[in-house]
Amino acid sequence: MSDFLSAYSIQNWLESCPQGYLEGTEYGHAPGEREPDSLLENETLLEQAINSTVQLVVGERCALAASSGLINAAPDVASKRFLATQTLDEARHVEIFTQRLHDLGVKKSELEDVIQQRANPHLVAFAEVLLEKVDKGDFVAGVVGQNIVLEGMAFSVFEMMKASNEALNPKFAHTLAGTIADERRHVGFGENRIGSLIRQHPERKAEIEQMQKDMSYHMLATFSLAFTQNTDAYAEGQRLSAQAGGGDAEWHGTNLATATPQEMEAVLADTVLKEFKVRLDRIGLEYQTPAGM
Ligand SMILES: [Fe+2]
Ligand SMILES: [Fe+2]
Repeated sequence: MSDFLSAYSIQNWLESCPQGYLEGTEYGHAPGEREPDSLLENETLLEQAINSTVQLVVGERCALAASSGLINAAPDVASKRFLATQTLDEARHVEIFTQRLHDLGVKKSELEDVIQQRANPHLVAFAEVLLEKVDKGDFVAGVVGQNIVLEGMAFSVFEMMKASNEALNPKFAHTLAGTIADERRHVGFGENRIGSLIRQHPERKAEIEQMQKDMSYHMLATFSLAFTQNTDAYAEGQRLSAQAGGGDAEWHGTNLATATPQEMEAVLADTVLKEFKVRLDRIGLEYQTPAGM
């Protein structure tokens, strides 16, 4: 427990995060970095960038509600402190991705309408499954749903987005790099804290596995809808990224500059599900395949 206490202490968070990889950043990127003109002047790409950033805001608002909601449900002080740091991380993620929407031209007065109109309905359903557990004060299910399922998904989505934006949009890639480092810490907490609780409460397994199955179903539906919308924008983004020197961008063996949207969806889903299986196994749960997938 002492390693656990220091690894997830506020002191450690201060040193590694605000005084570490975030030092000197402005909304997660270097001061002065901006969205590239080739994106801002291209209507197809701009639409797509706004759409995908809305999904990030929706996911991060859910993470903020979940991590803050779980503080009072946590059975020990070390977990409460960690979740307090996570709450601030998630609030920062909400802020930086919202700031990106403004950088892409979304006015403050339009923000909530834009989010409501463009939120992927499957992602909204995914969030509802998790927040129902949080609202009930169910710490074990809430941490599995948030720190393993939601954040395992976010981690891979951010990594894929970072790899495809590195050449064309360093500002966004840098913003993502800080969130990836944060998510890695959050996922680590989930694994370390929850394994022992599940061993103490084996009777909870079936219900938690059902939640994972429901969340996985909505996640795969989210990916499926995201990659069948705006297919023109993917090709356009690949063309500009290749021009900017990103022709070799690879992620898990897939060339992001030439992959079709279907191939990108497949590599993303495959990567996330493999991660789920490994992490669930480490905490003593068995991955459940959603129906029809
Ligand atoms: Fe987050
Ligand atoms: Fe997180």
